[in-house]
Amino acid sequence: MFGEKLDYRILRFFAYSDNLATDKDLRERELQHKLDLDKSKEELNRHLDRFDQQFMIDPNLSYLDIGCGFGDLDYALSDLGISNLTAIDIVESKIAVAEQQKEHLDSVNQPKFLTADILNWEPDHKFNVILSINTVEHVRDALKLCDRVHAILKDEGKVFFGFCPLFHSPFGDHQWECYRLQIPWRALIFNQKALMSVRRECYRPDDNAERFEDVWLNRMKYSEFISYCKKVGFQIEYISINPQLKVFMPAYLISSLLTSIPKLGDYFTAAVYVVLSKKV
Ligand SMILES: C[S@@+](CC[C@H](N)C(=O)[O-])C[C@H]1O[C@@H](n2cnc3c(N)ncnc32)[C@H](O)[C@@H]1O
Repeated sequence: MFGEKLDYRILRFFAYSDNLATDKDLRERELQHKLDLDKSKEELNRHLDRFDQQFMIDPNLSYLDIGCGFGDLDYALSDLGISNLTAIDIVESKIAVAEQQKEHLDSVNQPKFLTADILNWEPDHKFNVILSINTVEHVRDALKLCDRVHAILKDEGKVFFGFCPLFHSPFGDHQWECYRLQIPWRALIFNQKALMSVRRECYRPDDNAERFEDVWLNRMKYSEFISYCKKVGFQIEYISINPQLKVFMPAYLISSLLTSIPKLGDYFTAAVYVVLSKKV
């Protein structure tokens, strides 16, 4: 906005250190993670509702979850009766935590967890259903992600992508834990280096990230995502934009109006829930 130095000062004023954590702190927190199956089931239902009830639970189908994190949603899926579920994440320590959670469950259905980068992973079979929650905006190359997902989906299969918040939306920088005051479109208004300096000083002291890409943000716009889906050969079966606002209908209606305006809509599209299938 005003250059690196002044932007840094403004941002620093609104930042706080309550969530400051070193790598060691983060690792300890990860190890303390404990699955709460009831909570995970609630969370899963919240996501599945946003796909207009099109997500099918069928023990005869093969499922893939991309960017599973600690696997909480996968345990909830298994508990619902999904027996053939593979869940991958690029971060090895997250998969190790996900594996550990098996101890707390005696369900017959257990997800199969793997450390893998979806952009270069070659599974030994294709999937009927591919799900990914809150991950598409983090994968470093979203076009390649769509292309890989298309390649490993069975011809009659379906993809369920739900993700939020997109980078160009009001809180798309994912840095809300670092600030006392949330300035909308902060990542677009302020200097990137200033944002990263404040992040280092007040939030993640061991992380020398210099660009948004270094903190797992691919900067994809909603309109770009739609063009990627079409480019790789998907057809959109269902899409819901900002469904989280449905709890307050006036906000949802205003959002629907704003997000329908070409180009401007990208700046108001925070959450996307989409069901995709292969073009026939
Ligand atoms: C915000 S977390 C979402 C975790 C989980 N799906 C959930 O909703 O609780 C995003 C996850 O995507 C993973 N991820 C990012 N890029 C990836 C890639 N190229 N391949 C596989 N996983 C990736 C990250 O490691 C992270 O665990």
